[in-house]
Formats: sequence, C-alpha cells, structure tokens
Amino acid sequence: MRTYYLRSFGCQMNAHDAERICALLEGRGLERVGAPDGADVLVYNTCTVRKSADDRLAGHLGTAARLKREDPGRIVLVTGCLPQAEQHDFFRRFPFVDGAVGPQNLHHLGDLLDAAVEPADAAVKSADSAGNKASALPAVRGYFEDGAAMSGELAARRERPFQSWVQIMSGCTNFCSYCIVPYVRGPERSRRLADLLAEVHRLVGEGVREVTLLGQNVNAYGLDLTSRAAAGEPPSPSADGPPFPALLRALDAVEGLERVRFMTSHPKDLSDELVAAIAESPRVCEHVHLPAQAGSDRILAAMRRGYTADWFLGRVRALREAVPEVSITTDLIAGFPGESEEEFAQTLALVEAAAFDAAYTFVYSPRLGTAAADLPGQLPAEVKRERVERLIAATQRLALKSHRAWVGRRAEVLVEGASRDGSLLRGRSRQNVTVNLSGPAEAGAIVEVEVTAATSTTLRGTVATATSRR
Ligand code: SAH
Ligand code: SF4
Ligand code: F3S
Repeated sequence: MRTYYLRSFGCQMNAHDAERICALLEGRGLERVGAPDGADVLVYNTCTVRKSADDRLAGHLGTAARLKREDPGRIVLVTGCLPQAEQHDFFRRFPFVDGAVGPQNLHHLGDLLDAAVEPADAAVKSADSAGNKASALPAVRGYFEDGAAMSGELAARRERPFQSWVQIMSGCTNFCSYCIVPYVRGPERSRRLADLLAEVHRLVGEGVREVTLLGQNVNAYGLDLTSRAAAGEPPSPSADGPPFPALLRALDAVEGLERVRFMTSHPKDLSDELVAAIAESPRVCEHVHLPAQAGSDRILAAMRRGYTADWFLGRVRALREAVPEVSITTDLIAGFPGESEEEFAQTLALVEAAAFDAAYTFVYSPRLGTAAADLPGQLPAEVKRERVERLIAATQRLALKSHRAWVGRRAEVLVEGASRDGSLLRGRSRQNVTVNLSGPAEAGAIVEVEVTAATSTTLRGTVATATSRR
C-alpha cells in the first residue's frame, strides 16, 4: 500500500474532514495521487444534502467498483454523510466498498483501513463477493454511532500553510424541515473556548494568518455547553456574555492573526451582540453568510426556520448599518412543497430588499426521513427549475452590481496562489470575493489591490501596495 486517491464533496465541514483524512492516511505513509486508477486506497468523502449530490457520487462510485473488480486488492472506503444516511442499506447497495464511517466516526477510519489490509480479511471479502454468506465478513465494516467524539480534535493537513479551518462545533439541532444534516451530523456540540483559543494560538505559531470558524450554525456556538454543564458535565471556562460574540472578540485579540471568518450564521440567532462584535473586531472580516432560504412567512414557518421575512431584513439592516462594507451572502431554495407563485415572488422580493452580495440557489430536493419530504404539494421539476432560474438571474444581477461598486477602489486581498489559468495570482478580499490580480506578490501575502474590473463572481485588479501586517 503506497498511494491513495481522495475525492471530497459537499460543504466546508466536509472539506475540513477531507484534510483530516489526508492527515490520517499520510500518517500511515500513504502518498496522495490525483487519479483513482493507480491508487491503492480510494476514499470518497460524500455529501447527501440534495439528490444531485447523490447522483454526482454515483458516477464516481461506479468507477471505484470497476477498479475494485480489476484489482480486488485495492481498498475502497467511503466517509461522510451518504453512508451515515443509508447505513442500513449502504453495503447492500455498494457491496464492493470495504469500509465506511459516518461524519461522527472519522476517528475509526484507521481501524477500517487496518481491517481491510489484513490478508485474512481480504480473503474473506473476496469469498463474500463470490457469494458466501455475510456472516463471514469482518465484524465491523461501518461505524455510524452517534457519539460525543468530535472530529474537530483530529489532526488535519492544511491545504495552504497560511489559512486554516477551525471547527468550533459539530452537528445541528435545528431540524429545518427540508434538511438531512441534523440526521447525519448529530446534535449541536461545541468545543471548549479554551481549546479553541489554544488551537488558534498554535496555528498562528505555525504561520496561519486567516482562520475560518466552522459550524452548521456558528451563532449557537457554546449554548449547548451551558446546558451540558447543567446536566452534570464539566462546565466550559467560557468568557462573559454570549459565547459566539465572546469567541470572536477573544480571537480578535490574538497577536499575529490577520483575519477571522466564520460560517454559517443562522438568522434566528444573529444577535445585536454578535453584530457589535463583528463591527468592533478589526480582524473579523466583513462577510456574513446568512441563509434566507425563502421570503414568504408561510414557507419560512413550514421550513421551521424560526424567523419571518421582516426579521431577516431587520438583521440585514442592522449588519449593513453597523459594519460598513459588509458583504451578505445567502442560500435560497426554490420550489419548497406547496410554494405558490405568489409565495415564490416573495422570495424574489426579499432578494431585492436584502440586495445580497452573492447567493447559492437550490432546487428543493426531498430527502428521505425529513419532514418536508412527506408534505403535500410537491412541485414538478419544471416548476422548480423555472423558479430557480429566476432566482439565479436576480442574484447574479445583484452580485454584479455589488462587485462593480469596487471598481476604482482598493480591496485588501490575501493572496492564495495562482489564478485558475495560471496567468495571474488569485486571492480573496475581506468580503470573501475571489480577486484575480497581477503584480508582485506571493502566496500568503496580504496586499492592497486596485480593482479594475468585476464580474458577478470575481474582481480583477493590480497590486497597489503590500500591506502585509496591520
Ligand atoms: N447549516 C447551514 C447549511 C446547511 S446545507 C445553514 O443552515 O445555513 C446548505 C444549504 O443547502 C442550505 O442552506 C439550504 O439552502 C440547502 N439545502 C439543504 N437541504 C436542502 C434540500 N433538501 N433541498 C434543497 N436545498 C437544500
Ligand atoms: Fe440544515 Fe437548518 Fe441545520 Fe442548516 S440550520 S444544517 S439548514 S437543519
Ligand atoms: Fe453535505 Fe453533509 Fe455537508 S450532507 S452539505 S457534506 S453536512
């Protein structure tokens, strides 16, 4: 066993888990390769948030099945949200998979790898694919239990030396009626403030200049620690005040750290204290990803989002007033069950009123086991598609307008590396917009860029001055 191939899908949480998978495999002496064909170990880190995610994966797993047939000594492992969602059916659907772990059991990946490489097990497995009875399989092929283990504590291999994800919590307890995430990632669990501060100090010592705090609902960070303490677990050495704003303020004071990002923010938990903490913390970037999902109060209630369109717009106003140049991005769903044309028009109206700086738009996709999947009024695919296209048109127009407002001005950019075609450098502004730039700068530098052009997704510019440190 010498090489591995890893393909990761889904959200930032999964991208961060992928870094942990790399650390684990490389810790065992495996080297990463870019194509599955020659690799000894194939790992697919999966997402199942919409059916389109499942469909995309199916092609990749088809390739894995073929490669496994060609060389049964090859090991195929599947991690992430799909095997967790389908745990009872997973190995029946994908018999060629050697082992699978859900997102709360990533720490067992090494055990699966060990079990799969043991010659005795390998023999048992090829016997099994020849039709022998399932009881001959190794005892454990999958780990799916809902445990308190936190993958946030596992080592990760960072893609770039100067940027790092920091997982501040796992899971979600909101149970929005369309969403599978709470079922696959378990309940909200926060890491201790002291552990997070120690981790960020260590990262900064290693050269990290930008951290992105990750959680499905970062605004609820720490609230579970209080209730767990009440239930007899050791209390968190938390600072005064609401935990997430306190965390931002504590990180803002970390010497040597240049930028703090966070996602995702749930609008229902976006407090005035949090708005103030963003406004008053210079290291915290001017970007809030604030998924609206819909603009009709009836649909928002059916989605169990816990806010109205007015509340949402009030939060947008508070942010724009307190944080000059804040970029507010969002997620929107078109065609939730029972959504009328009028209700959809309210989503379009909310998009205009909020003037989002960018948006991810999705067609509603029924997920097995979620409440909305059983609602009456499931809409035909054409209706959903036509609505999402109108959302795309509106949000792209607003994004272009927002980005054009930067032309002729300077933006602070953290240079990440070469642009996609290799002809320029690429980085991100504090507002989280991708900036393609020319001029003398190297990866990891923070520079002022004179913005010369804009599209709905990127800015273009030239380096004006290297500011490097604030
Ligand atoms: N925790 C984050 C994001 C979770 S998933 C949050 O609460 O904002 C990312 C996005 O996928 C969601 O914001 C939602 O817009 C979309 N999504 C989730 N389930 C979906 C479904 N069943 N159909 C369509 N879009 C969905
Ligand atoms: Fe899903 Fe809602 Fe939780 Fe986000 S807050 S992960 S949309 S259940
Ligand atoms: Fe997908 Fe799981 Fe993230 S379902 S969006 S990878 S939490």
